[in-house]
Amino acid sequence: MPGIVVIGTQWGDEGKGKVIDLLADDMHMVVRFQGGNNAGHTIMLGDTTIRLHLVPSGILYPHITPVIGGGVIVNPAVLLDEMERLSSLGIDVERLRVSYNSHLIMPYHVVLDGLMEERRGGGRLGTTLRGIGPTYADKAARQGLRMQDMLDASAFFRKVKEAVEEKNQLIQGVYGADPLDPVAVAEEYAEYAQRLRPYLADTASLVRGALDEGKNVLFEGAQGFMLDMDNGTYPFVTSSNTVAGAVCAGAGVGPRDVGEIIGVTKAYVTRVGGGPFPTEQDNEIGRAMQEVGREFGTTTGRRRRCGWLDMVALKYAVRSNTLTSLALTKLDVLSQFDTVRVCVAYRYRGELIKEFPPVLDVLCRCEPVYRDFPGWRVDISGARRLEELPVEARSYLDFVQESAGVPIRLVSVGPERRQTILLDGDETRLLQGRFLFFDDLP
Ligand code: GDP
Ligand code: IMO
Ligand code: MG
Repeated sequence: MPGIVVIGTQWGDEGKGKVIDLLADDMHMVVRFQGGNNAGHTIMLGDTTIRLHLVPSGILYPHITPVIGGGVIVNPAVLLDEMERLSSLGIDVERLRVSYNSHLIMPYHVVLDGLMEERRGGGRLGTTLRGIGPTYADKAARQGLRMQDMLDASAFFRKVKEAVEEKNQLIQGVYGADPLDPVAVAEEYAEYAQRLRPYLADTASLVRGALDEGKNVLFEGAQGFMLDMDNGTYPFVTSSNTVAGAVCAGAGVGPRDVGEIIGVTKAYVTRVGGGPFPTEQDNEIGRAMQEVGREFGTTTGRRRRCGWLDMVALKYAVRSNTLTSLALTKLDVLSQFDTVRVCVAYRYRGELIKEFPPVLDVLCRCEPVYRDFPGWRVDISGARRLEELPVEARSYLDFVQESAGVPIRLVSVGPERRQTILLDGDETRLLQGRFLFFDDLP
């Protein structure tokens, strides 16, 4: 049975956590394949809000094997802390499996992320300061430390100590900052090694086995397509590939192991950190989206920049990820507006552009061209079927679906599991050949 991929189509925070949590009920395994604890996925379970940074969003179901694949970078302190928090909520974390190949985020990576941002001054990227860029840089330079290095305790102690000594030269010599204590870091990581060892596994092989047995495997994307290191708005991107194709390298599967690819999009757009954002509303409209949508970063608590839905960018995401369907979230947040706008093209030096521009400087100078839709101005957060949505909201969805060229199979009208409308004719059907019955949801 080919796997199912869920990715964000925008600059992150599209509501992937909610969508993955919903789908996970029908899954056997949920696999993270890239990124690190820069991700922040929020799941509402009744009155409890659960924020996950590293542990896959399927963890809430006891029948799921949650897997952290080799393409993910792991800060062991954050992972252990998250596992403890989940345990204290009565969630069994013993099932978690972490790849031997995952690279470790070290304290010097976090320090360097901060120092590099400081040095960029006004041109800073607005990273999450979690050490993501420096860790992936070391991985590419073939000088990273991996989970499997923890297997030999004395060699690991030595490797950590030497790595800290080397990075201290950079921290002190180039940035003039305080060095780290090599022995203290090595001791700290020796303890993490001991605690994490039982969870380490050949995860690619686990995933392979599940797929071969015909079990449902879901690959959980972090960040969003527009933050992809190669295809996004470089340098205002993250340091991993967030595109659906990254599943293969990051989880250790082949392209033919992937069947459905679901792109999550908000009904509007948000972005945290710097970088171009053509439809941004740095005004009352953006503030209203921010307030009603509670657009604060899950990881850093920063205010998210907000703007209208951008079909130029969304179509780019549909094509580059070969999406098979869309999950559209936060439609309820648009209920407050008399007019709902959608960007259908860009204008650059008087010319209409319909394709996402590959040159950053062009993108930065593009003006959005909007199509206006009448708003619905009623509370839709209780809608559970398409027919219960006002005709204006349905027209808006029709347009997005038509323009994107792929079906919208899920519409979310609130943060809770139940606040979801499944489409596709038969409303109990979300994934082809797989069924999700909403009566069972808490
Ligand atoms: P992720 O990083 O893509 O998983 O998204 P985040 O969890 O960072 O941000 C999405 C936020 O929107 C979370 O606080 C969710 O609880 C919330 N959310 C998800 N879907 C909806 C929705 O349909 N309506 C509203 N109002 N909130 C939603
Ligand atoms: P989820 O999975 C939103 C952004 C940062 C910054 C850029 C680079 O919750 O959607 P990094 O720390 O990765 O080097 O920062 O990427 N960013 C995110 N924005 N949601 C995320 O994850 C993000 N992860 C990174 O704000 O602009
Ligand atoms: Mg998030």
